[in-house]
Amino acid sequence: MKRHVLLLALVLFVVGVFGIRFGLNGQSRIALAQEKGAKVENMKLPEPKYDGEVSVERALLERRSIREYKEDSLTLTEVSQILWAAQGITDPKTGHRTAPSAMATYLINVYVLPGKVIGLPMGLYQYQPTHHELAKMADGDMKSKLFEAAGQQPIKNAPAALIITGLTAKSKSPNWFYLEAGHAAQNVYLQGVSLNIGTVVMAGFKPEDVKKALNLPADETVIYVMPLGKKK
Ligand SMILES: Cc1cc2nc3c(=O)[nH]c(=O)nc-3n(C[C@H](O)[C@H](O)[C@H](O)COP(=O)(O)O)c2cc1C
Repeated sequence: MKRHVLLLALVLFVVGVFGIRFGLNGQSRIALAQEKGAKVENMKLPEPKYDGEVSVERALLERRSIREYKEDSLTLTEVSQILWAAQGITDPKTGHRTAPSAMATYLINVYVLPGKVIGLPMGLYQYQPTHHELAKMADGDMKSKLFEAAGQQPIKNAPAALIITGLTAKSKSPNWFYLEAGHAAQNVYLQGVSLNIGTVVMAGFKPEDVKKALNLPADETVIYVMPLGKKK
């Protein structure tokens, strides 16, 4: 029994040292755990809807940057729909998504940081388009950490926030992931109109500060923060 405890302590120590040494974070943490056969707990999201009440024209007409939200919680179904709009798979055969991508290489990640989302505890989750799931990256009130790092009030008041990052190592051009983030963000705005959810794209912060505060993967660059909340 004692030997087991010692062995476990040794394993934890080695993993901890290697984690710090090689800057294991975000995606690499997930990949490493999967390689070792460990179960990475992914949360299946509610199926998105493919029909709504609001026409594309109406959504374009009503799209506005919204920085004040009702105190109401969002639901997991609403967050699921927003994530699908940002990067959901629309053609399972090719893996093509709701937003275009340079050479279909898919150069962005979308994260959600719930504060008050019914059915989704606080934390930092990476959206996984392939199976329309969330991979948990961190526990606790990560949205407050985001607010401390990015410093814009709507993040604090919103019941949830998204972060869109660019996959720098995967991109053949240093601009492509920024362009992809723009497409995804516009989808979020338009889907928001149909769900009566307000949002605003924010880039007025130091990307490195946000990345550090949330321990985001080393090969990603933070592009946009988008608070989400019911319109007043
Ligand atoms: C690249 C970019 C960065 C932006 N950064 C911020 C920001 O940091 N904070 C903010 O409140 N709004 C930000 N915005 C939102 C703009 O202020 C907003 O789009 C503009 O005022 C026009 O308003 P509308 O979106 O309602 O049409 C940003 C928009 C873009 C395109």
